[in-house]
Amino acid sequence: MPVELNEDLPVEALNDRSGLLELLETRRSASAKALTGPGPDAAELERLLKIAARVPDHGKLTPWRFIVFEGESRDRAGDVLVRRYHELHPGHGEETLAQQRQMFSRAPCVVAVVSSPVADHPKIPEWEQLMSAGAVCQNLVIAATAMGYGAQWITGWYAFDTQVLAAFGLDAGERIAGYIYIGTPTEMQGDRPRPVPASITTRF
Ligand SMILES: Cc1cc2nc3c(=O)[nH]c(=O)nc-3n(C[C@H](O)[C@H](O)[C@H](O)COP(=O)(O)O)c2cc1C
Repeated sequence: MPVELNEDLPVEALNDRSGLLELLETRRSASAKALTGPGPDAAELERLLKIAARVPDHGKLTPWRFIVFEGESRDRAGDVLVRRYHELHPGHGEETLAQQRQMFSRAPCVVAVVSSPVADHPKIPEWEQLMSAGAVCQNLVIAATAMGYGAQWITGWYAFDTQVLAAFGLDAGERIAGYIYIGTPTEMQGDRPRPVPASITTRF
């Protein structure tokens, strides 16, 4: 089934916060590399996390949790990445190490959404619990955008490396569903083409 793509929206039409449907129709991620302060304050972040946790969750298992990186904890997280990167790639240059060090400092606030599924649940398959964590990520992106911030859901090597994850306090059965970078965009990204629904939809 060939996927047809819509034309991009003009930049000025993106992230229209005049209404919920308008925002969903025009939502565009920010670039994690182009986020600066301010980020959400304590009350705003609490509100964002409350919204993020309001997702479909079969069996009320809460199979996800958050780790917040703000302020100097972003530097400590960067140190974890540098140490591990150095172990994995001893031949890197200083410039690459510097990039790793500032990975969390690119935005004022980074929220790791940790997928924490209940193992061998008699009724709820793990698949459903993983998808619920994805819904948490997307809720957080939408809520942060609705609050006027820029947000991007990213992963990268440091979402998958078991030693990094252990340093961040994840247990063996837990995984990073995403790092949600939140802040003030220094530039608005242009749109990208989106699938035309008719080209990806059949009727049974
Ligand atoms: C699980 C997941 C992981 C992602 N990881 C990255 C990433 O590491 N780097 C990146 O540039 N985009 C990543 N993306 C894509 C961005 O979140 C985003 O979709 C993209 O920048 C397009 O923006 P849009 O939300 O406006 O479509 C990821 C998306 C998902 C769902």
